[in-house]
Amino acid sequence: MPAARSVRIAPSILSADFAKLGEEVRAIDKAGADYIHIDVMDGHFVPNLTFGAPVVKCLRPHSKKIFDVHLMVAPVDHLIADFVKAGADIITVHQESGPHLHRTLQSIKSHKVKAGVSLNPSTPAATIAHVMDLVDLVLVMTVNPGFGGQSFIPLLDKIAQVREMINATKRPIDLEVDGGITPKTAKDVIAAGADVLVAGTAVFKDGPEHYAKNIKALRS
Ligand code: DX5
Ligand code: ZN
Repeated sequence: MPAARSVRIAPSILSADFAKLGEEVRAIDKAGADYIHIDVMDGHFVPNLTFGAPVVKCLRPHSKKIFDVHLMVAPVDHLIADFVKAGADIITVHQESGPHLHRTLQSIKSHKVKAGVSLNPSTPAATIAHVMDLVDLVLVMTVNPGFGGQSFIPLLDKIAQVREMINATKRPIDLEVDGGITPKTAKDVIAAGADVLVAGTAVFKDGPEHYAKNIKALRS
């Protein structure tokens, strides 16, 4: 089995103050974030709207950390180039976002950025078995996507299953978990095999002076 990789924390800017996003990104960068998790929602694939590539482009100068862009968008293929140009380092699409996942992932890879695939809570891990050679990240959703601040759905068996699928590839694929992550649920998902934790509410609570402490609490 490949050596375990250290746990990385990806604060979701969905929970940031949208009126000062640049400042918020600088604050979580300084507080020790590993990735900056950017939730793009289209009001169609998920029942909520956030922002698009122009906002990501404006945020790019505020941090050198990995921009981890989670596209909750369908259809998605026509937007990939825009997010690459805006400065995304990882582009994650949903398994459920269209009938041609393999082609979508090929398209992301053709831009020389990392490709991720995300699974809604009800989508079985086996549905991505035949694209594992194309992905750099698998994102297991532990809430139904669309909103921050929801309760964690304990899909620990699915996380463990994806961990096995990743280990079988012998490639360094991130196993990211997103939704309802707190210091308590973090412990459980890490034990199940996760190595990147997305957290919105748990990082941004209590204001900027608490971000470093909040991030640290998720790691330990
Ligand atoms: C949910 C988003 C998450 C969300 C997590 O649709 O993909 O990234 O911001 O928020 P919390 O950590 O509050 O569950
Ligand atoms: Zn997300």
